[in-house]
Amino acid sequence: MEEEIKRALASAALEARKQAYCPYSHFAVGTALLTADGDIVTGCNVECASYGGTNCAERTAIFRAIAAGTRNFSALAIAGGVEGVEPEAFCPPCGICRQVLAEFCGEDFPILLVKSERERQEYTLGQLLPAAFGPGVMG
Ligand code: THU
Repeated sequence: MEEEIKRALASAALEARKQAYCPYSHFAVGTALLTADGDIVTGCNVECASYGGTNCAERTAIFRAIAAGTRNFSALAIAGGVEGVEPEAFCPPCGICRQVLAEFCGEDFPILLVKSERERQEYTLGQLLPAAFGPGVMG
């Protein structure tokens, strides 16, 4: 993936963080999902007074894309941290989001953890969720 695309994804995830609805945790997460067509679909976490109703930023972006008719993805950027300030650490995706990613993305799928446009860590889905149970397992 080109540096320019990685920066654009990082920037979009940082911008999407500003939309997070997180009055309970005050932990704001933004994501930017690159589709195979080259579009960027963003997401943020949406919390709920009944805490179990909360949706993570990663799944928000994936579900938005699926609902818009797109199922092929090329990369995901994630930025998270205390609401209102720049991220102080990298925010890895939770286990449920890793599993949902495995539903639509292969083990080489790149996941960028973002502190700023230039401060990034890069993993593959296979590194974050090895030996995944996915659609292929069910035949
Ligand atoms: N959160 C995400 O949006 N993505 C993750 O991968 C980790 C956690 C959200 C859920 C909740 O709103 C807040 O961060 C604290 O857990």
